[in-house]
Amino acid sequence: MNIAVFSTKSYDQEYFEKYNADYDYNFSFYETALNPDTAKLSADCNVVCVFVNDVVNEETIKILSANGIELIALRCAGYNNVDLEAAEKEGIKVVRVPAYSPEAVAEHALALILTLNRKTHKAYNRVREGNFSLKNLIGFNLSNKTIGIIGTGKIGATFGKLLKGFGSKLIAYDIAENEELVAAGVEFLPLEEVFQQSDIISLHCPLNKHTKHIINKASIAKMKDGVMIINTSRGALIKTEDAIAGLKDRKIGYLGIDVYEQEENLFFEDHSEHIIQDDMILRLLSFPNVLITSHQAYFTKEAMDQITTITLNNIKSFETGSELENEVK
Ligand code: NAI
Repeated sequence: MNIAVFSTKSYDQEYFEKYNADYDYNFSFYETALNPDTAKLSADCNVVCVFVNDVVNEETIKILSANGIELIALRCAGYNNVDLEAAEKEGIKVVRVPAYSPEAVAEHALALILTLNRKTHKAYNRVREGNFSLKNLIGFNLSNKTIGIIGTGKIGATFGKLLKGFGSKLIAYDIAENEELVAAGVEFLPLEEVFQQSDIISLHCPLNKHTKHIINKASIAKMKDGVMIINTSRGALIKTEDAIAGLKDRKIGYLGIDVYEQEENLFFEDHSEHIIQDDMILRLLSFPNVLITSHQAYFTKEAMDQITTITLNNIKSFETGSELENEVK
């Protein structure tokens, strides 16, 4: 199989090469993202392997189809960046990695909470400069605080179990209740009540037409003053300009995001010597109570092992005509 791997970083290549001994596939690694301009690079390949910010829209898919691509192998869980209808029309199958170490993302969401709250990132810099003052470093106990989880699938449920250990009160909203969490004492409530009652809201639902901008001016208005919002799911769950307004009038007390609406133009790359044109991210970065990481929640050794082996197994199943258990339709 000839596989064009897009949006490749050195660590992706390292993991694919490590596990390829068992498969013997031919990889073409491209640093560039897949989009209508780069889709031509897939010529002579059977499979394209893509990540979260590749643009797999109808235009891209038509070029892939003309190049003879038979399979789009996502090396991630979310598939909001793929036009599934267009893929089906062209007879191209789509597979993904539905679950890989939910602990990786849940633990990162917790890291964002603890860092924003206890300000260890600021303390680290202060102490290095000989400033041992505690001024403005005050945090709050997580014990007895109400944590609202939106989306209680694999990651949301894992996050809930972690927060249980802090003695927090857990409430949740999902279109389907998670029985295991109910048994563990998590109270499922209508979305509006989760907005109203939570001290911390953590987003773990997928991005789709129902969840796009679930955090917006109207929902922010329902929240507690000083609420902490954490998003490790997908950027467009939050309407960025409304979050900025909420931060400016101090309704939002803390914002921790690993994903950002326009992240495809920024994340995973070094822009330290560039003039950044995205004024919204610069405004977000100007707030002392905003913490942004660059879509790294998934990035643990365990998750990379699983992402790579499941992606290779998905391709193997396609090659051998076996059932595609991780197909997205
Ligand atoms: P999952 O499919 O196990 O769980 C998603 C949950 O969201 C399900 O329980 C589902 O019923 C619920 N849901 C669907 N529509 C909803 C709605 N309208 N309102 C509330 N809940 C709704 O997915 P998993 O593995 O827990 O992943 C969640 C999301 O995390 C992914 O969709 C992906 O966007 C994101 N993710 C982010 C990563 C990162 O590195 N930052 C890495 C992996 C996933």
